Amino acid sequence: MTERTPIIAGNWKMHHDHYTAIQVIQKLSYQLDKTDYERVEVVVCPPFTDLRSLQTVLEADRIPIRLGAQNCHFEEQGAFTGEVSATMLAKLSVAYVIVGHSERRELFGETDEDVNRKVRAVVKHGMTPILCCGETLDEREAGTAEAKVRGQVEAGIAGLSKAQVGAAVIAYEPIWAIGTGRTAGSEDAQAMCAVIREQVAAVAGPDAAGAVRIQYGGSVKPGNIAELMACPDVDGALVGGASLDPDDFARIVRF
Ligand code: 13P
Repeated sequence: MTERTPIIAGNWKMHHDHYTAIQVIQKLSYQLDKTDYERVEVVVCPPFTDLRSLQTVLEADRIPIRLGAQNCHFEEQGAFTGEVSATMLAKLSVAYVIVGHSERRELFGETDEDVNRKVRAVVKHGMTPILCCGETLDEREAGTAEAKVRGQVEAGIAGLSKAQVGAAVIAYEPIWAIGTGRTAGSEDAQAMCAVIREQVAAVAGPDAAGAVRIQYGGSVKPGNIAELMACPDVDGALVGGASLDPDDFARIVRF
């Protein structure tokens, strides 16, 4: 079996301006040490307006926390008022870009096709996509969760090489578990992450499936992270609310 380095990412969503962001990242870095960074890849995905400030602090203080963005546009440049391109993010030492978060799909109308174009733009600029997928409660109750997630994964990675798929990160975030305090039990999380790996194998082969890292997201807290990380197909977590607080996030990283 391939060794997959665990990856714990904080999705700050629309929280923390750049002043607060600097304080949070400094507090987080005081709590983490070399052994933590050797064991786990730590990523923080702040709002766009924080990226430049955090890049400067991380580089100046040599803090090995990786920067992620929460979205990007798939075009390189152009008349797209309000959008930010993958090219621009790559220039800020952004290593990861969350693509197709359920909030973007549900609130901003992103389709599987948009998501795939963004994934390809991210990869083209040397960054790693964190491709999000997940079902609603209605879909889970109707028994269509697995088909939806398989479809989102297949559409999301279309057009990538096998190696690019293997290097990607996929985040399984059941929508009913996001911000609700209700996590998927570790059995449900494991079952769907195994389905995702199986789908990756079907599309991109066993090597890519063995290498791709799959995160669970949805009300991850210091108290439930260990159980989730013990699942064989869960390689990390995408953390929303609990990543805003440096103490909680550090406890999650040290699961
Ligand atoms: P919460 O951890 O706040 O449930 O958010 C999960 C999420 O959407 C991360 O992307």
